[in-house]
Amino acid sequence: MLFKQQALLRQKLFVLGSLAIGSLLYLVARVGSLDRLQPLCPIDGRFGLRDQDEIPLRALQFKRGLLHEFRKGNATKEQIQLQNLVQQLPKAIIIGVRKGGTRALLEMLNLHPSVVKASQEIHFFDNDENYAKGTEWYRKKMPFSYPHQITIEKSPAYFITEEVPERIYKMNSSIKLLIIVREPTTRAISDYTQVLEGKERKNKTYYKFEKLAIDPNTCEVNTKYKAVRTSIYTKHLERWLKYFPIEQFHIVDGDRLITEPLPELQLVEKFLNLPPRISQYNLYFNATRGFYCLRFNIVFNKCLAGSKGRIHPEVDTSVITKLRKFFHPFNQKFYQITGRTFNWP
Ligand code: A3P
Repeated sequence: MLFKQQALLRQKLFVLGSLAIGSLLYLVARVGSLDRLQPLCPIDGRFGLRDQDEIPLRALQFKRGLLHEFRKGNATKEQIQLQNLVQQLPKAIIIGVRKGGTRALLEMLNLHPSVVKASQEIHFFDNDENYAKGTEWYRKKMPFSYPHQITIEKSPAYFITEEVPERIYKMNSSIKLLIIVREPTTRAISDYTQVLEGKERKNKTYYKFEKLAIDPNTCEVNTKYKAVRTSIYTKHLERWLKYFPIEQFHIVDGDRLITEPLPELQLVEKFLNLPPRISQYNLYFNATRGFYCLRFNIVFNKCLAGSKGRIHPEVDTSVITKLRKFFHPFNQKFYQITGRTFNWP
């Protein structure tokens, strides 16, 4: 009997020991694979990145942690100077389009070790009051970063605001401009859904999309409706082209960013002259959310807030057809100007 109990105990200890060793080996393998997934390689010099600026991944992760503390304001001036941290004006701006996937794009680009995002929409160029505060005010709104990193800001209102192209041009005529677009009718409905949700939150009633998008007098598309106007991408882009050559823009396919984000992000890395560092490891599909979420490392994952990826209300098919027909010629012009063609109906 005693012998049987001892044997059972030995068996249990053996199983527990194997489990512990197995977990340890798994962890070692995972940490190792992290380094392999984002190998070190020289960084291209367009943004002033030099070989000696290279930081090994673990150091980068450590520094990212420190950056987090600085952003939270838990750092003294001395610490900031010691770490060589600076607040830099953006080298690239996501100028729009509202509901195109601007937040997802910014957050995904922020996975890149050479990118630092301005978390909030700054609204410097589209808001007269902010703009009057000057470029130094704008710079001070930027997060702390290392000199070799690039800062990216997103304020989707920039794309449609009259004064913005000239103002950005005056600050930096060689800035890189990112525009993320979706199929125009879907984008307009997404825009409407956001406003509708705001009204519902305040217990207010709101019109149906159909009523806003179609002029009841003419039965034609209501071009005075902002959600419709914003989706006429070519009209807005033409204003920007008075200041910036088309080479300074990169168009991101917002519909593809939802279903297949990596290739879209790789195109952006190329446009920004960044070495390819964002990998499939950094993006995983979350079936509950129905969207890709972000994986920074073995412990830190995040999905976008619930306000991203709302369920759209059903819209009358004849209205959708009318809108698609309306947008068609503008889309053709947009493809022609940008050199990027989409399968929009
Ligand atoms: P919907 O709410 O219409 O689905 P923006 O950030 O410019 O406001 O865009 C919001 C849109 O980003 C959402 O529109 C959603 O479809 C899209 N999106 C793209 N990738 C996403 C992701 N990984 N998680 C959540 N939303 C994402």
